[in-house]
Amino acid sequence: MIAGVITETQAGERRVALVPSVVPMLAKVGVSTLVQQGAGVAAGFTDAAFAEKGAEIAPSPDDVVRRSDVLVRVRVSPEGTDAGRRDLELLRPGLVVIAFLDPLNEPGLARSLAAKGVTALSIELMPRITRAQSMDALSSMATIAGYKAVLLAANSLPRMFPMLTTAAGTVTPARVFVIGAGVAGLQAISTARRLGAPVEAYDVRPASKEQVQSVGAKFVELPIEASDTEDKSGYAKAQDESFYRRQREMMAKVVAGSDVVITTAAVPGKRSPVLVTEDMVAGMQPGSVIVDLAAERGGNCELTKADQAVVAHGVTIFGPTNLPATVPYHASFMYARNVTTFVTHLVKDKQLTLDMDDEITRETLVTRDGQVVHERIRGLIG
Ligand SMILES: NC(=O)c1ccc[n+]([C@@H]2O[C@H](COP(=O)([O-])OP(=O)(O)OC[C@H]3O[C@@H](n4cnc5c(N)ncnc54)[C@H](O)[C@@H]3O)[C@@H](O)[C@H]2O)c1
Repeated sequence: MIAGVITETQAGERRVALVPSVVPMLAKVGVSTLVQQGAGVAAGFTDAAFAEKGAEIAPSPDDVVRRSDVLVRVRVSPEGTDAGRRDLELLRPGLVVIAFLDPLNEPGLARSLAAKGVTALSIELMPRITRAQSMDALSSMATIAGYKAVLLAANSLPRMFPMLTTAAGTVTPARVFVIGAGVAGLQAISTARRLGAPVEAYDVRPASKEQVQSVGAKFVELPIEASDTEDKSGYAKAQDESFYRRQREMMAKVVAGSDVVITTAAVPGKRSPVLVTEDMVAGMQPGSVIVDLAAERGGNCELTKADQAVVAHGVTIFGPTNLPATVPYHASFMYARNVTTFVTHLVKDKQLTLDMDDEITRETLVTRDGQVVHERIRGLIG
């Protein structure tokens, strides 16, 4: 069996789906690795490093796809873009594709992959069960996004994060507020704490309070109770607009008193709730910074524009949609480890085996035999 890797095609993408250190792990279960020349260079992995671990180097993406049984990618470029069209043209019937396919937000891609006769497994759909934790690349990438969001804020803030007592007087610390304490939010809290800032945080899920406190932040108690906050996977459920309105009213004071606000509040498959309005931005001190990690699906701040830095009322609002690509070495390392564990899980007797009695396979399999087979995605396509 051959696992192929090509250079990622999306603009600004610097990650690579497999790294040299996983090549021997795949070899152990009978999977050889074929890498397009230069595919890892932007992430810091040379062809020589891949070859040294036993990977074969191929001259072009077509070469890789022609010879591979499984194509492992980070992402497939969105439909309707030139890169997306080329990505689809490259594929062939019978090929297995494993990647972030974003099927909950882009179900049309699933339909196109099915039409191509490709068997597609989507990394985002990995079930949140203990057995699959080491395959959960969404969490790995959220960890990196949370870390880098704080660095982005620190780099732009006209203040320092730590409190310093100097001969020139006492420097007061920056105050950080994190909204949404999932994987990215908790990592943002830890990173801001390491830089010395006092941090406050809020999440709708009551279970998050203890986690927030365990990483050294103060949990902001709001006198509103969300009903039915969590689905069986631990993801937040959407609340109604009246809840979000009350949440905004109650958070306004905390936002106004913060120098940095990091928002990560996402609801899978839904538009992100607006939690910071323009009025709330206007209430912040000039020079303050908002980093909105929910920008890809509309953003948690009313003024967010995806992949832009908006300056309004003296406040800078960043809406980065792919921070993991800005830390490509470790992002690729973590992604490659997660996906290698996944491939290893799927291989039985040196063959990729799709066992529909296995929850991990069933939940991640989007297309097979020319059909979209995932119930939820079929529902979205209609
Ligand atoms: N294998 C596993 O068991 C596993 C793996 C990863 C994550 N998890 C858990 O799943 C949960 C969600 O993690 P995630 O980072 O993927 O979530 P996510 O990226 O979907 O959302 C980020 C956070 O925003 C919060 N949020 C949503 N609406 C909000 C609102 N109106 N106000 C404030 N916060 C709001 C969510 O509760 C979540 O914590 C966490 O408890 C995490 O520890 C479990």
